[in-house]
Amino acid sequence: MATIIDGKAFADTLCDKLTGEISQLQQQHQLTPTLAVVLVGEDPASQVYVRNKVRRCEQLGIGSIEHRLAPTTTQTELLDLIDRMNRDGDVNGILVQLPLPPQIDEKSVIDAIDPAKDVDGFHLINSGALAVGENRLVPCTPLGSLMLLKDQLGDLSGKHAVVIGRSNIVGKPMASLLLQENCTVTIVHSRTRDIEAICRQADILVAAVGIPRIVKANWVKPGATVIDVGINRIEEEGKNRLVGDVDFEPVSQVAAAITPVPGGVGPMTIACLMYNTLAAARAQNGLN
Ligand code: GUN
Repeated sequence: MATIIDGKAFADTLCDKLTGEISQLQQQHQLTPTLAVVLVGEDPASQVYVRNKVRRCEQLGIGSIEHRLAPTTTQTELLDLIDRMNRDGDVNGILVQLPLPPQIDEKSVIDAIDPAKDVDGFHLINSGALAVGENRLVPCTPLGSLMLLKDQLGDLSGKHAVVIGRSNIVGKPMASLLLQENCTVTIVHSRTRDIEAICRQADILVAAVGIPRIVKANWVKPGATVIDVGINRIEEEGKNRLVGDVDFEPVSQVAAAITPVPGGVGPMTIACLMYNTLAAARAQNGLN
């Protein structure tokens, strides 16, 4: 039976450390790191994510500003708001919750955010910096996943890491981070031939596809470490359930260590958002 990696506990410890640093920043420099969160529309899952992010800010002493915009918001209106927040010296971090309604072009929005305030790490400048190994603000989910992996395994050098999924938010930045840790990295995706056979070679398997329980026990090498990034809501036995991309029960009989859903990567994503907001506030004020 695999070790269950407790992402919630790791995130709590990280947040305790950040709370101390934030209070020090307040005392020594009269600075309160502040995050602006924008939610367009009424997607229920996004509402939960935004609420959790704002709650964490409050716990840590990070200022939070919530902008809830109507589902009919135009791209111009959203870009205007971003422009105001870019120029507002009291705002250190800007997060626009994705996905956005169809009338708004996500890419234009992401690239309108001041890269220094882009705490999601999605801006071209930040993703480009990550790709060449000059990390600035790094996307929260891959960063949190890497922290769990290093805590579990120590040095990752030489390990074969297989990342399932090639999104700009998780798959690609995850692959960059693992490469920086000297892993041999393979990305597999919907057009990959014989995904299972490639996954079975992985010492580290990161699942980021958004398909409930797609990773079966026969995709996993005995002794592998499995990071499940998926958060899928399904209806099962008349109940609403939150499940990952990994078929947890059978895979946990094969893997050496595995993150659960919920309580694995999810809390780490939010903790890393807090980490990035503190880092952005420091950098904007000439502190390292
Ligand atoms: N939607 C799903 N994941 C994310 C994320 O990490 N950041 C933002 N802004 N939206 C998301």
